[in-house]
Amino acid sequence: MAQLSILCYPDPRLHTVARPVQAVDARIKQLIADMFETMYAASGIGLAATQVNVHERLIVMDVSQEHDQPLVLINPEITWASPETKLNEEGCLSVPGIYDGVQRSLAVTVRALDEHGQQRSIEAQDLLSICIQHEMDHLLGKVFVEYLSPLKRNRIKTKLVKARRESAS
Ligand code: NI
Repeated sequence: MAQLSILCYPDPRLHTVARPVQAVDARIKQLIADMFETMYAASGIGLAATQVNVHERLIVMDVSQEHDQPLVLINPEITWASPETKLNEEGCLSVPGIYDGVQRSLAVTVRALDEHGQQRSIEAQDLLSICIQHEMDHLLGKVFVEYLSPLKRNRIKTKLVKARRESAS
């Protein structure tokens, strides 16, 4: 297994639209293992392939406290979203140190392939529901800061570019 490097906003590659996974083969299984290692090492609860510069529809997640409920979604599609929404504080491994409110559906039903290539339907609420919606946005090339005002987003951009320049020098 290997840790992968995570793209950091405002990297333009984060805006790539992912294509469907063609086959759940050895290459995808290795990618899943590497993405879990990367996510756990970064103390994240979700990671989309887009964030490690692989533009295929694959997400890994684990919203448990004990890190013992790994969940893989391949080619996920939301089949139902609750009309009730809630404002939640979100963060993202690609936007380090930034947290802000995003309005999302309280519950969603998602259909996806699992790591064995089996079709599954998952009913998600609360944190898992938010996480699924956040990660599925990544597959469409959308980062959560794009829900914020242009003013806030520009402030975040400037801050992250500056932080990276300082850490590189
Ligand atoms: Ni994210």
